[in-house]
Amino acid sequence: MNQASIEAAVAAFRKLAEEQAQRAEDIKAQGDFKDYSKLDKIVIGICGGDGIGPIITKESANVLKYILADEVKAGKIEFRDIDGLTIENRVAHNKAIPDDVLEQLKACDVILKGPTTTPQAGDGLPNIESANVAMRKALDLFANMRPVKIPEEGIDWTFFRENTEGAYAVGSRGVAVNDDLAMDFVVTTTEGTERIARLAYEYARNNHKGRVSIVTKANVIKTTDGKFLNLCKKVGAEYPDITTDEWYIDIMTAKLIDEKRRKDFKVIVLPNLYGDIITDEAAEMQGGVGTAGSANIGKKYAMFEAIHGSAPRMVKEGRGQYADPCSMLRASVMLLNHIGKHKEADRLEKALDYCMFEDKKYTITGREDGCTCAEFAEYVMQTLTTKFGD
Ligand code: IPM
Ligand code: MG
Repeated sequence: MNQASIEAAVAAFRKLAEEQAQRAEDIKAQGDFKDYSKLDKIVIGICGGDGIGPIITKESANVLKYILADEVKAGKIEFRDIDGLTIENRVAHNKAIPDDVLEQLKACDVILKGPTTTPQAGDGLPNIESANVAMRKALDLFANMRPVKIPEEGIDWTFFRENTEGAYAVGSRGVAVNDDLAMDFVVTTTEGTERIARLAYEYARNNHKGRVSIVTKANVIKTTDGKFLNLCKKVGAEYPDITTDEWYIDIMTAKLIDEKRRKDFKVIVLPNLYGDIITDEAAEMQGGVGTAGSANIGKKYAMFEAIHGSAPRMVKEGRGQYADPCSMLRASVMLLNHIGKHKEADRLEKALDYCMFEDKKYTITGREDGCTCAEFAEYVMQTLTTKFGD
C-alpha cells in the first residue's frame, strides 16, 4: 500500500469536508423565499440547451409568451433568451456553466431550461459536471418537485427530491485513491435536510394531502440516510395532521408498481439519487418521461425543466422537430404557479389535459406519423383561446 496515495486521498477529503461545512453555514445565513408579488418586473430566462432542448424550449416559451402577453406588454414580465448553455460552449470553456452564462442566469428571477447533454466517462468529452447539477448548486435550487398524476387510477404523487446534496453534492469529485481503489462521497447536512422536509410538509398541508412518505436506504447507508430520515421525522412531528410513513428505496420502487398500494402515496420526500431514479419510474407510468415536468426551487431563484435528457439520437436521426414539448409545457405550468400566476397556470394545465388526454386532435409520436412540436404548441394555444379563455 502506498502511504502517499492515502495521504493525498485524506487531503482531498479534508478539502471536501471543509467546503461542505461552509456550505451548511451559508444555508443558515439565507433569507426567506423571494416574494414575486413584490417585484416590479419578473424576468423569465429562456435557456434552450442541447439536442431537442432548443426545439421544445422555444415552443414552450411561445406558449408562455402567448398566455402572458398582457403582462409582457405592461412591462411586468420580461422574457430573456440566454444562449451559451450548449455542450459546445461548455466544452470550449471547460466549465459546466461558463461564467458569463451564469451571470445572465443570475440576472433572471426564474428560468425555463431545456435538457443539456452531460459528458460521461469514456465519451471523449472533458469531465465537466452536468449543467443541470451545476445550476442546481450555483443557484442553490434545493428542492426538485416532480408531480406525477394518473387520474383514472387515482394516482396523484408529488416527489420532493433533495437537489443539492446526497450523492450529487461532490459527485464529480470522488477520489481515485490508487489504481485499485475509488471512493465517492455522500453528503447530508442538517440545514439541507430540514429545508426540503419542511417544503414537502408545507406542500402536503397546503394542498390537503394527508400523507408524507420518507424514502431512504437508512438500513445500509446509515450515517447520511440515517440523518436524512431522522431529521425528516423530526420535521414531520411538527405536522400532527399529516401521517408520516417511512420506506426503503428498494421496496418503494416495488410498491410504485403495486396497483393496490400505490394510490395511497401522496407526497414523497427523498435524497437526491433515489429521487432521480424513482421519478423516472413514476413518469414512465404516467405516459413516459416526455410527459413530466420538474421544478427546481430555491429561496432566490427557480428553474423549470423536463425530467428527461436531450435525446441526441432524435436529432441525429433527423426527428428533432417531432420532439414532444409536453414535459416543458408541464414545467411551464409549474413556472406560472411559482410566480403567482395561478389563473394562467390553471388555464394551461386544463388546455394540456384536454389536448393530451381528451381531444387528441394532434398527437406526438416522435416520428413523421405524429405532429411536429410546433404544431402541438399551436394546438395548445388555439385550445387556450377557444376552450379555456378568460
Ligand atoms: C434529472 C437528470 C439529471 C440528474 C442528469 C441529467 C444529470 O437525470 O434531472 O433527473 O441526474 O439529476
Ligand atoms: Mg433523472
